[in-house]
Amino acid sequence: MTRQPVVAVVGATGAVGREMLKTLAHRNFPAQKIIPLASSRSAGSKVPFNDQELLVQELTEQSFDGIDLAIFSAGGATSEKFAPIAVRSGCVVVDNSNAWRMDDNVPLIVPEVNPDALNNHQGIIANPNCSTIQMVVVLKPLHDAGKIVRVIVSTYQAVSGSGQKAIEELESQVRALFGMQEVESKVYPHQIAFNCLPHIDMFLENDYTKEEMKMVNETKKIMGDDNVKVTATTVRVPVFYGHSESLNIETEKKITPQEARAILTQAPGIKVLDNPSEKIYPMPLFAAGEDETFVGRIREDETIANGLNMWVVADNIRKGAALNAVQISELLLQKNLLRVP
Ligand code: A2P
Repeated sequence: MTRQPVVAVVGATGAVGREMLKTLAHRNFPAQKIIPLASSRSAGSKVPFNDQELLVQELTEQSFDGIDLAIFSAGGATSEKFAPIAVRSGCVVVDNSNAWRMDDNVPLIVPEVNPDALNNHQGIIANPNCSTIQMVVVLKPLHDAGKIVRVIVSTYQAVSGSGQKAIEELESQVRALFGMQEVESKVYPHQIAFNCLPHIDMFLENDYTKEEMKMVNETKKIMGDDNVKVTATTVRVPVFYGHSESLNIETEKKITPQEARAILTQAPGIKVLDNPSEKIYPMPLFAAGEDETFVGRIREDETIANGLNMWVVADNIRKGAALNAVQISELLLQKNLLRVP
C-alpha cells in the first residue's frame, strides 16, 4: 500500500479502545484517518486523539467501507459478527477478543515472539489474551536457550482487564467501604475491593476457568510448540492497572538464574528489575503506563534439577492489549501485508 491506511478502532470508548487511540498517536502510526466506532449507546460522543477529539460513530455492517485496517476491542460477540463483515469489505482486522484466537486460519501474534506467523494471514489476525502475552515474551528467549518442558503460572490480574465498568466497580466499592456503606457487585460475582477472586471468565468442564485454558492453549500456538506443558491458576486482585505473574519453569537444559538474567536483559520488550537487596523488583504500580514487560525475583527452583522461579509484571492494557495490537499493525505495514488475500 503506497498511501497511508484509513484505520477504524472498534470499541473506541472502552478501556482498551481509549488506550489504543493513545498508542496510535504516541507511536505516530501512519494513518490517513482514524475512525472511532462503538455501540449506538455512545454514538455522537467524543474520544480524545492527540490534541483533538474524534466523533464516535455507531458500528454497523456498512462501517468498514473505505477502511483498510480495523482494530477490534469490543468483546467476543462483536468480533465474531463484525470481523468477517470487515474482511469481506477488504479490511484487515486485528482482533483483541477471544473469538478467533484458536482458529487455524488466524495467526495469533506477539511481535517479539512469532512475527513470521503473520505472513499467511487470511484477513483476521488475533491479539492474544493479556496474561498470555506478557508470559510468552519472557518464555520465548528462555525456550530458545534451554527448551521449556513445563510452566506453572499463577496470575494476579488487575480489574482493568474486565473493562471500564470493572475499574469503576473497584473504585466505588473502596469509596463505599470507607463511607461505611453497602458494596454493590455488578461486574464480579463477589466484592473485589480488599479481596482476591480465583475466578476469571467462566468455569469449564475440567474445573479450570476459560482464562486459565487460554493461557495453556494460546501459549502452545504462539510458541509453535505443543510440547510445552502449561498449568495455570488465574486470580483477579484489587489492582487497577498491571497484571503480575508468578512463573515456575522447568527446562530440558539447565539455565542458571545468572544466565536467565543475561538472556532476558538482551531480549526484546523486556526489562529486568532484579536487585532484592535494594528492594528492586517489578510491581504493577510502576509497570502501569509502561511498554515493557518487567521481570525480577529470578531464582533457582531448588526442588528440581532444571527449574527457575520468577515474577513477571506488565501493563495489561498496554502490552497486554493496545500496544501489542498496534505493534501487529506496524508489522503489517512493514511486511506489506495490509491487504486481504
Ligand atoms: P459503548 O461505550 O458504546 O458501550 P470495555 O471493555 O471498557 O467495557 O469497552 C467495550 C467497548 O466495546 C466499548 O467501546 C463499547 O462501546 C464497545 N461495544 C460493546 N458492545 C458493542 C456492540 N454491540 N457494538 C459496538 N461496540 C460495542
